[in-house]
Amino acid sequence: MSKQFDVIVIGGGPGGYIAAIRAAQLGFSVACIDEWKNAKGGPALGGTCTNIGCIPSKALLQSSEHYEQAAHHFGDHGITLADLKIDVPTMVSRKDTIVKQNNDGIVYLFKKNKVTFFHGRGSFVAAKDGGYEIKVAGAAEEIISGKQIIVATGSNARPLPGTPFDEVNVLSNDGALRIGAVPKKLGVIGSGVIGLEMGSVWRRLGADVTILEGLPTFLGVVDQQIAKEVHKALTKQGLKIELGVKVGEIKTGKKGVSIAYVTAKGEALTLNVDKLIISIGRTANTIGLNTEAVGLSLDERGAIVVDGECKTNLPGVWAVGDVVRGPMLAHKAEEEGVAVAERIAGQHGHVNFNTIPWVIYTSPEIAWVGQTEEQLKAEGRAYKSGVFPFMANGRARALGDTTGMVKMLADAATDEILGVHIVGPMASELIAECVVAMEFRASSEDIARICHAHPSLSEATKEAALAVDKRTLNF
Ligand code: FAD
Ligand code: NAI
Repeated sequence: MSKQFDVIVIGGGPGGYIAAIRAAQLGFSVACIDEWKNAKGGPALGGTCTNIGCIPSKALLQSSEHYEQAAHHFGDHGITLADLKIDVPTMVSRKDTIVKQNNDGIVYLFKKNKVTFFHGRGSFVAAKDGGYEIKVAGAAEEIISGKQIIVATGSNARPLPGTPFDEVNVLSNDGALRIGAVPKKLGVIGSGVIGLEMGSVWRRLGADVTILEGLPTFLGVVDQQIAKEVHKALTKQGLKIELGVKVGEIKTGKKGVSIAYVTAKGEALTLNVDKLIISIGRTANTIGLNTEAVGLSLDERGAIVVDGECKTNLPGVWAVGDVVRGPMLAHKAEEEGVAVAERIAGQHGHVNFNTIPWVIYTSPEIAWVGQTEEQLKAEGRAYKSGVFPFMANGRARALGDTTGMVKMLADAATDEILGVHIVGPMASELIAECVVAMEFRASSEDIARICHAHPSLSEATKEAALAVDKRTLNF
């Protein structure tokens, strides 16, 4: 007889492994199947996030930021360095060590929580006895059965039609994290989150980076006052960002890659680069899941169709994370994983989509939660806006990083905070206070009345809240 589990999770990324742990904590017998292989063919739990996403990209962003600081800003502090060098293989190997620490950490967490791990590809076989049979194709093949199935199979990088990733010259985010030496010229298609983060890494290390973006607006999803500030800062650093272009033929050869494109003004140009990163979004991954065997519904983009509670069209089958609708973010996947495990246990798991924070880890960092000014205008909602620049924040001056601002938007009548948008130092950490405030439906006055440590960057958030009422104290 096949091994029986209460819950089988397919996929061991942040959506899947967190769902598995939470389900085990709630007393279920849980299996998690994940097919990711490390360089030696062994398991590498953690999915895109751990292996080729959040964690390795932040490791490289940190290394390259140190280099940038040493090269351009240490002098302001009276620190001089002779013969500054970057050893890319060491930087990449540090990143690989961090990835492995995270892989191993999840193995430890599975043991601690008694989650049974299967290394291999999971696929649906059939519905049986009120549950489902799942095939695990790994070193060997076996069938396991589960009453409840959570699908968390993530997403894959989207290639440009006709230009597959070779990961040597034409790189997805995977190859972009493994470049062995600083390219002289780097092209990036797509000025979204990956394009800006990876473009920044290699620009800081000395590459001449050109980003070609199809849309005429820079960071269209971001509050445009913030996006303008980001554009100014990144351009000043040397990133070349061309908006509104139409990318044509891409040719790869011994000398690198040539990209034909037409500018927003209609000029036909060719960009010649050593390496090209294509970061034009990601697509939900259901490859090899054999959804047809059980009739699991997919939408026209290939994502698994779920309702607001992550229920699919099949009883007892749930789906979370990048493989379903909503932002492709690790913390969104985790929240959905926890909520589904709790719903299986009869609890009321919940995910508030309005308070999911976004962070882009460029320098300056960009972080936001809630609605942008453009969204509020489109809705016709009456709002008040408060802005406080880091230029007027003592801690930012002491850090030597005064770029950017905190912008708070609040309802004109009730003063409830509707959105907070930050560009500047440590925006990724500053946004947490704003998420808490919005989750508790705080008003801007609530933040304005709370004591914030001095000198700290968080005082800029308090001052932005004061600015909503036009009574900043330090600006
Ligand atoms: P994934 O992490 O993709 O995990 C899915 C797992 O399922 C994988 O291990 C895969 O091997 C496995 N799998 C798939 N099919 C099967 C099968 N049939 N059988 C067995 N296993 C299977 N998000 C953030 O919030 N912050 C960031 O800073 C951030 N940075 C990013 C940087 C980059 C370069 C990229 C590409 C993404 C980044 N993301 C970031 C997005 C984040 O990585 C994803 O949103 C997140 O990983 C989604 O989690 P998931 O569990 O849904 O899927
Ligand atoms: P993205 O959706 O952020 O950006 C893609 C960009 O490519 C868009 O600006 C789009 O207009 C442009 N584009 C699309 N087709 C194009 C074409 N043919 N020519 C030129 N431009 C084109 O996608 P990206 O950067 O690939 O990242 C995927 C996802 O991964 C993100 O949306 C995010 O969910 C996640 N991620 C999150 C990070 C974070 O939280 N810090 C970091 C990196 C990725």
